Amino acid sequence: MLSIKRSSPALGVEVEGIDLASQLTPDQFEAIRTALLENQVLFFRDQVLTPDEQKAFGLKFGKLHIHPAPLGVLQRHPEVIVIKADETSSRIAGETWHSDVSCDAEPPMASILYLAEVPPIGGDTLFASMYAAHDALSDSMRRFLSGLTAIHDGSRNYEGRRPVSGPDHEFPRAEHPVIRTHPETGRNSLFVNRMFTTRIVQLSEHESGTILEMLFRHVENPAFQCRFAWKPGSVAFWDNRCTQHLALWDYFPHRRLGYRVTICGDQPFYRP
Ligand SMILES: [Fe+2]
Repeated sequence: MLSIKRSSPALGVEVEGIDLASQLTPDQFEAIRTALLENQVLFFRDQVLTPDEQKAFGLKFGKLHIHPAPLGVLQRHPEVIVIKADETSSRIAGETWHSDVSCDAEPPMASILYLAEVPPIGGDTLFASMYAAHDALSDSMRRFLSGLTAIHDGSRNYEGRRPVSGPDHEFPRAEHPVIRTHPETGRNSLFVNRMFTTRIVQLSEHESGTILEMLFRHVENPAFQCRFAWKPGSVAFWDNRCTQHLALWDYFPHRRLGYRVTICGDQPFYRP
């Protein structure tokens, strides 16, 4: 059994007493997997991970994802994205609510971020439960949204970056259900986000814009959130299928440095 401390009523737990660099026992692996499904995001403190160790931990949960347009990756480790901000940064990744790479046809199921350096204060990450966002909608709105699909377009967020598949290659773009059924828990969640979702396919442009704006604002309700204050060696492991997150950049010109591995997911679907 893991020792866990809940972060908020909506989602998140801090997990104690586990070294992610170690060979997990089958029981430990199962406990972490179950905790993720139940709590949507897990936090670990005081970890020391080499790139190989972080990848090995991620690989226990699935194949590792290669980002379509990363700002930077580690040399010889294309699966490890470098998350860095300092006094030379003009923007950072993830300042808008999003689910990672939801523009992929098969968006990543989870992400594991390890921070090695943190600013003296600030640089928290906010997480929001999309189960809670879904469940808080009225029955009428849920009925209206069920069965609708939306376009998630990478070019909106990744503009200015180069797609990894070559200069002529386009950023990913995909159509996903607005309400998504989690393939493991069977629970439904809201699956549109301000970073990537551009259009609800079955509505007029005006209708789509208005409904999406309403949903994006709905997602930002603090009652659906938890907020994680990083320390050096902290790890966050979140389920992209039922959460969104936002990185705060309130620490300029200080430095924040970390590494992310991302686990492949499957094609979103909706089951009433
Ligand atoms: Fe992100």
